[in-house]
Amino acid sequence: MDVTIVTRDGVRLGVACAEGQTVLAAAEEAGLYLPSMCREGSCGMCGAHVTGGAYEMGACADGALPKGEGGVLLCRCLALSDLEVEVEVRDEQIGRHRVPERRAVIAELAPAGAGALAVTLQLEADDTHGAAADFVPGQFFEMRLPGTEVRRAYSLANLPNWDGRLEFIIRLVPGGRFSGWLGAEARVGQVLELRGPMGHFALDEASPRPRVLVAGGCGVAPILSLLRHMAEFGDATQVHLIYGANREAEFLPPEILAAVKAALPQLEVTHAVWRPEAGWSGFSGNAAEALSAVLAQGGTMPDIYVCGPPRMLDTVAAAALAAGVPERQFFAERVQS
Ligand SMILES: Cc1cc2nc3c(=O)[nH]c(=O)nc-3n(C[C@H](O)[C@H](O)[C@H](O)COP(=O)(O)OP(=O)(O)OC[C@H]3O[C@@H](n4cnc5c(N)ncnc54)[C@H](O)[C@@H]3O)c2cc1C
Ligand code: FES
Repeated sequence: MDVTIVTRDGVRLGVACAEGQTVLAAAEEAGLYLPSMCREGSCGMCGAHVTGGAYEMGACADGALPKGEGGVLLCRCLALSDLEVEVEVRDEQIGRHRVPERRAVIAELAPAGAGALAVTLQLEADDTHGAAADFVPGQFFEMRLPGTEVRRAYSLANLPNWDGRLEFIIRLVPGGRFSGWLGAEARVGQVLELRGPMGHFALDEASPRPRVLVAGGCGVAPILSLLRHMAEFGDATQVHLIYGANREAEFLPPEILAAVKAALPQLEVTHAVWRPEAGWSGFSGNAAEALSAVLAQGGTMPDIYVCGPPRMLDTVAAAALAAGVPERQFFAERVQS
């Protein structure tokens, strides 16, 4: 069967798909590495829409299928005839090389607000990739729980560097397999197997518009990386961070954002607390409500970058659309499987 993959910018890529082979596997065999993670129909990362032809979908998790007619997960989609499939990414965002596999040593584990850890890993140098930590701010790495096939994605909070340092902010989910291990058993010096970098959440640096960055909980990790990138390049674009949490205690230690602000003086910050305690003087409410308040001030409709759990993404998207922000100015990363 012939599958035609149509990218967001209209590029058409032909792939031969064998009987019983998923569209994702067929694309990879043809050297096209589309966004994917779990490869078992649960993370939703390989979502696409079939616009022509017959197909069969294997089992997938509730809520993982993209909305709308023809919504499929390419890791579970078998072609029953020639197919045409529209994907969310632009041609340049489709990898032409297999995602690197790396090893890294846990260099530091430190508290990062209530219920979260700041995790620093040191990449081991290898012949193919050298020692550097090479990624685009906004991307993530997948970590394997030692001794198992369990893998979880974590977004980078720092900047690419020659030393091979990777920094993450990881929320300790009660009963969570990976984060539970991290909070209870992980030790400095242990080795982790990683895959990455992956993901297409990145700044549209060609855009002349102001930016609003919205972070919910541990979604602050890639948002910090974007802000640090702006600071490093002296990017003078107007930027407003909306940082939401359930409780004030969940925010990162204040010196982290203070250091970013010192290097990015035009940065405005709104802390939004959903359940504030007595004495809270910042915004009371969720991140979507804080965004509506910022957008109600008027001015040029900004580009909006949002990172957090799925429900927050939906409410923030609804607030942005209600305020008249065009969909193409909305960039989102979901940080919960
Ligand atoms: C692209 C991407 C980037 C991510 N980046 C980060 C990051 O920077 N920091 C980070 O902490 N996490 C991040 N995540 C989430 C992370 O991959 C794991 O899903 C999370 O750490 C839980 O894994 P676990 O094995 O500990 O829990 P699991 O064993 O997978 O889950 C245990 C239970 O907790 C629920 N659960 C899972 N995640 C959450 C959550 N975040 N809050 C509340 N309940 C949850 C599950 O539904 C399940 O019921 C990211 C996810 C994606 C897809
Ligand atoms: S890679 Fe297809 S749903 Fe996760």
